[in-house]
Amino acid sequence: MVTEFEWWQSAVFYQIYPRSFADGNGDGMGDFAGMIEKLDYLQNLGVDAIWLSPHYPSPFIDCGYDISNYENVAPEYGDLQQFKQFLNGLHARGMHLILDLVLNHTSDQHPWFIESRSSLDNPKRDWYVWKKGKNGQPPTNWYSTFGGSAWELDAKTGEYYYHFFFKEQPDLNWNNPKVKEAMFNAVRFWLDMGVDGFRLDAVGTIFEDEHYFNYSENRTSEELIRLELSIKSFEEQANYSQALEKMFRYQHDMPEVHDLMRELRRVVDEYDHRVLVGETDDLSFYGNGKDELNLIFNFPLMKVPQLTASHIKANQAERLAQLPPTAWPCNTLGNHDSPRVYNHFGDGKHNSLMARLNLTLLLTIKGTPFLYNGEEIGMSDYLLADIDQFRDPLSLEYSRIIKELQGLSEKEAVQIGAEKGRDKCRTPMQWSGSANAGFCPYDVTPWLPINPDYQRGVNVEDEIKTPNSLWKYYQSLLSFRKGSAALKFGDFEQLAGFPKDIVIFSRTWKEETLVILLNFSDELQKINTEVLPMDAHKLLFEGMPHQWTLNAGESTVSPFGCVILGKERQ
Ligand code: NOJ
Repeated sequence: MVTEFEWWQSAVFYQIYPRSFADGNGDGMGDFAGMIEKLDYLQNLGVDAIWLSPHYPSPFIDCGYDISNYENVAPEYGDLQQFKQFLNGLHARGMHLILDLVLNHTSDQHPWFIESRSSLDNPKRDWYVWKKGKNGQPPTNWYSTFGGSAWELDAKTGEYYYHFFFKEQPDLNWNNPKVKEAMFNAVRFWLDMGVDGFRLDAVGTIFEDEHYFNYSENRTSEELIRLELSIKSFEEQANYSQALEKMFRYQHDMPEVHDLMRELRRVVDEYDHRVLVGETDDLSFYGNGKDELNLIFNFPLMKVPQLTASHIKANQAERLAQLPPTAWPCNTLGNHDSPRVYNHFGDGKHNSLMARLNLTLLLTIKGTPFLYNGEEIGMSDYLLADIDQFRDPLSLEYSRIIKELQGLSEKEAVQIGAEKGRDKCRTPMQWSGSANAGFCPYDVTPWLPINPDYQRGVNVEDEIKTPNSLWKYYQSLLSFRKGSAALKFGDFEQLAGFPKDIVIFSRTWKEETLVILLNFSDELQKINTEVLPMDAHKLLFEGMPHQWTLNAGESTVSPFGCVILGKERQ
């Protein structure tokens, strides 16, 4: 038994998007009653920990990332009693739970903000970022990352408040120690209850540059969207990221944030075995490897139009080389803000094979993997055709801007809004082939339309019954990983001298060496097995039967095949 590692280093996390996961009370929206019913499902799938997207009371302008009470449960989802039942149910099954913690902003309906905006001399005025305008204009020319000015005029008090996200999400003023105290109380509230940690939302945006400089050149949201829509290559993606970086440089990743992270870490470390995961790819949030966050997402791996062998190899080489010595990597391919892995990293022809390949990558490279609910059955992005069905304000914003920008018809604008917004990856979980995918009763309208492909076998019930289904693959690879110290803890080494479209690496822990071969091409690839490490010639696992053929000295991996080699399992 390996003891020097923490649970979160070997765990596979599974993100639950509460509104879409399981509807226990039959109102068309996920809730804790539903999550409790699915505890055995989660255990049976084989995941080890849950990251729960916000479950707090909220007006749900940004689907819960606009919190109006940090110490309770959204009534739509249930109550604290049910929350505890879910938490205890996970613990009883040997699983862990981390919550989403939104530090940067609250809802504009949070009592703190309601008080803060009520008058210039309210004691909570300084809990948010308030500034006077200049000549009838906002204090600076800063934009919100969700479009439009980052400043909203409050008519009553005549000042502007700052919001990095929607105007309904005012930024807290973290220079005020009272804000810290109140938020740390909320952190303790959940840790005392037994929660195992937090995923920290938008950590980079917590502080702004104290000088409030104007940007000398700034792009409008329209220009940015135009640029984003034109992305077709890695290079264009990189240019876009650079433009974003430049455009928001006074609004994120300020040095003060690291003091705050160290303080937060000290609070969390008062408790045993808890974890902090940052929604950032900035490695400086690892601190010295022990004093800030435990995990930082390797977003550069997933933020690409296509997963290619060369991208993966470069990503792994760079990322692992840059980590502070004691820091632990953390990888993901999708979440509630990004396109669904199944179609985004598929090619339309081999999606099912590629989904196995991509999962194998995620579960075999070094680090803690994060999966997103629905990924295990191959749920795809579902593009809403009716603007009235949109729930993500970003989809509406895109449609509006794109219509004006490019003079498109309503229908075309809706299509682009649906593609660029986030509703497409948030549709309800498909539990069965019966009406409403078994998510909610047949005569209830789900909060977001359900992808009709549930009727064509893309649902949990059918996939559990079908040999070689994607769900079965998830289950068996998760179980394989659980039994392999090399995959969980082992050293990672890329192997050279193999075809360029193959990602090939070894994972070694004590006596066990595994070799993982991932064919990211639609062609059969030949492998010279003579140069494989000793002890790594026996086929232990493959994406589909017969992906690997072994001949004397030369083997083949089929198109998009994936193979794990080793010696006999211990
Ligand atoms: C990141 C979250 O993942 C996203 O869904 C949300 O809109 C923003 N942060 C604002 O909280």
